[in-house]
Amino acid sequence: MPRSFLRPDGPPIALIAKGWDVTELAGQLHNPGVWNRHKLRTQAYQTPHKSSSDIWVRFRPWDEVLADQAHCCDEHVSEWYPVVRDIPAVIPLIDQAVEIAEAETLGGVLITKVPPGGHIAPHVDRGWHPEHYRKIAIQIAGNNKQAFCFENGTELRPETGDVYEFRNQQIHWVTNDSREDRVTLIVCVR
Ligand SMILES: [Fe+2]
Repeated sequence: MPRSFLRPDGPPIALIAKGWDVTELAGQLHNPGVWNRHKLRTQAYQTPHKSSSDIWVRFRPWDEVLADQAHCCDEHVSEWYPVVRDIPAVIPLIDQAVEIAEAETLGGVLITKVPPGGHIAPHVDRGWHPEHYRKIAIQIAGNNKQAFCFENGTELRPETGDVYEFRNQQIHWVTNDSREDRVTLIVCVR
């Protein structure tokens, strides 16, 4: 039975591990050309993710997304996006996330960046994909002036190399009151 680090009645976020080596991926993410190739999340009208940048590493095939954008999170099978060739260091980190989660299936994989002074506005992630998969996050760049917050008052301030599981079925948001980017690799597993 695959384990979850979140108890059903417990906090919606839990630290799993510290000190994962993310330096190689962090270096590959300095290439500006790998960011924001797919802007659906960050540029939609009234999106909570307006100030953030992202990289779609793995998700529903892009032609299927384009064919019906409003339902892009309905049931589907994820595939790798071409960007993975430019950031190969993401693969061993994804493998480690699958292993620590004792997961059998890999869904979408996303890298998000919230710049200094930026934020992700309060929201709930809805649809088949967020509801079907568990979310394992690896902090590629993080410090204690950045926070992942939930409506019930729970928050986590992950440092670079921290790994955690979270639920996005309740209202959550992200703040970055530091002078550095906040970069997160989110691996969806089941
Ligand atoms: Fe979210």
